[in-house]
Amino acid sequence: MPETVNQTSLLAAKSLHKSYRMGGQPLEVLRGVDIQVEAGEWVAVLGASGSGKSTLLHLLGGLDRPTEGSVSFEGRDVFAMGGKAVDRYRNRKVGFVFQSYHLLPELSALENIAIAAMVGQSVLGWIGARSECRRRAAELLDRLGLAARAKHRPAKLSGGERQRVAIGRALINQPAVLLADEPTGNLDAKTGEQILDILRGLHRDGQSIVMVTHDSKVAAAADRRLTLDGGRTRG
Ligand SMILES: Nc1ncnc2c1ncn2[C@@H]1O[C@H](COP(=O)(O)OP(=O)(O)OP(=O)(O)O)[C@@H](O)[C@H]1O
Ligand SMILES: [Mg+2]
Repeated sequence: MPETVNQTSLLAAKSLHKSYRMGGQPLEVLRGVDIQVEAGEWVAVLGASGSGKSTLLHLLGGLDRPTEGSVSFEGRDVFAMGGKAVDRYRNRKVGFVFQSYHLLPELSALENIAIAAMVGQSVLGWIGARSECRRRAAELLDRLGLAARAKHRPAKLSGGERQRVAIGRALINQPAVLLADEPTGNLDAKTGEQILDILRGLHRDGQSIVMVTHDSKVAAAADRRLTLDGGRTRG
């Protein structure tokens, strides 16, 4: 019998720990989380409020560093790479949909998406890239059913529309993995279902997704579910 080849996962977290120091006492939020995500997979992490879901997603996306343990992307340890490489990973490989959208209030829907594609461009590259980035942003808005809202600022958009802009921003650099933090958390059931439909469509097209949520009905949309409890994952 040939030995089974242990294939490299797209994204893997090993023995992740994260503590926050508040006053004298460290607050241990993650106490040894292990996750493997294969290319094309949609994984949901279920957990109660305060269980550390956002903390975990931030570590997976290179937005924050673990206290211990590793995050690997295509077999390479993200935090063992230099700071610039972590920035590149975050900007080019990961698309992040934040729990509370984090759209820039002064920018239109189109600009909020286009600007994410400009990050990391030199000034000269910026000028050259601007129209191409806006074209791609317009295409994404169209795909997300928001073509008629391109010029609206976030304050003039509904919650579901803001979330769709946030998804567009996360997708513009064609990330290898989409990290979605409670993507339906602030939305009513019908609007939440529309957002899940968008994620289903992306997943059908091959997008790898890690989604964290407190809602088991939302988690049911994923291929696989893990539960985060007491700082550890199971399932
Ligand atoms: N920057 C920080 N400094 C100190 N404590 C923090 C920080 N970020 C998160 N925490 C604490 O870590 C714990 C987990 O927070 P986290 O936001 O990851 O939970 P969550 O599962 O995403 O919750 P929710 O479902 O409400 O979004 C909480 O007790 C929180 O107070
Ligand atoms: Mg959270």
